[in-house]
Amino acid sequence: MQEVRADRSEAVSMRPFFTEEFVHLHGPGDHEARSFLAPGRINLIGEHIDYNGGLVMPAAINLGIAAACRPRSDHLVRLHSSDDPLAVEIDLDRPIEPDPARGWGNYPAGVLHELLLQGVDLRGTDVLFTTTLPQGAGLSSSAAMGVLTAFSFLALAEAPTSDLKAIALLCQKAENQFVGVNCGIMDQFAVALGKEDCALLLNCESHDYHYVPVAMGAHACVIMNTSRQRRLADSKYNKRRAECNAVLRLLETDAPRNGLVHASWSDVLSHVSDPVLRRRAHHVISEQARVKRASRVLAAGDLAAFGRLLTESHASLRDDYEVTGSHLDAIVGAALQAPGCLGARMTGAGFGGCAIALVERAEISNFTASVRSAYLAATGLEPAFYVTHAADGVHETTGEG
Ligand code: GLA
Repeated sequence: MQEVRADRSEAVSMRPFFTEEFVHLHGPGDHEARSFLAPGRINLIGEHIDYNGGLVMPAAINLGIAAACRPRSDHLVRLHSSDDPLAVEIDLDRPIEPDPARGWGNYPAGVLHELLLQGVDLRGTDVLFTTTLPQGAGLSSSAAMGVLTAFSFLALAEAPTSDLKAIALLCQKAENQFVGVNCGIMDQFAVALGKEDCALLLNCESHDYHYVPVAMGAHACVIMNTSRQRRLADSKYNKRRAECNAVLRLLETDAPRNGLVHASWSDVLSHVSDPVLRRRAHHVISEQARVKRASRVLAAGDLAAFGRLLTESHASLRDDYEVTGSHLDAIVGAALQAPGCLGARMTGAGFGGCAIALVERAEISNFTASVRSAYLAATGLEPAFYVTHAADGVHETTGEG
């Protein structure tokens, strides 16, 4: 069983190894390297709500991707990753197109393409990425890679990096149009604008947000990785989006609305007869109400009530939205039986990946031991656990630590 108690210094303390590897891969250079860090994210509550125009509550976490970047004297971008042997080269003087052979490199390539479209005078750069985020686990490694690329290349171009909302929107556009994943805005926003010990309460229609303190005292948020990579995620994800749009079209015969979160259940009952579409709408409407209740109970410090909302959210995603799957259900079921657990739910798109649990700190070892044995017995898979806290969004780490 893997238990990580990462903190911000972790990515920084990778630096001696990181520097050696950088020089080994890229050779000595004329310029100083600068380093940057982008976190992953969990979503505390408000799942499959961002593309329905509602309120979500994600938090950046203390696991992430670091990049060491050293400007070059030409217009080549050379990307390496400590975690993937595939090296990527991009010529900034040529059009940048999506290319399946570029693998993970399409995420940074899409962002560079957008930055060039916006007229940013990008510099040729050697880059080495390294990560503490498990891949394909639903903790937004792709959003972290995109936001990290945008932030670091803007910084190297001496362009402003302070408009983090604009960076998040640019990266969402790159992921939608260049990579072809039809994601909402939540992940990029959390990765760009996360704040230590806070969640973001983000309105996905207006893009207004405020921070909600989530210092949990005697409790902690434990990420539970099912070790089941997300499967069919994109196709089912797009299918759910299409189902929500279908409900909206039926409702719009009556009154136009910006997003499904604004619908009332009685409107749905009178306009939508298909039982599957009704269940999808029921999740969206009830989940939005849970986000509002969650922000109130968190402000009042009522973690028991917050835990119950997490568990209700999982049930809705399982029964109404049908995006959990047997592995997430098994790990959440095991968590709810384990010592010290106040509530648990899947986080992210679903179909595998990670769940989160709110756990009494004093019980964390008993909790993880109990979940591990029940989950292993049910699925034959070894789960991983990360005791996490809310962390800052993307930033430069040169000179830190
Ligand atoms: C993925 C997407 C997000 C959001 C979640 C579900 O993480 O990238 O935009 O839709 O799924 O809440």
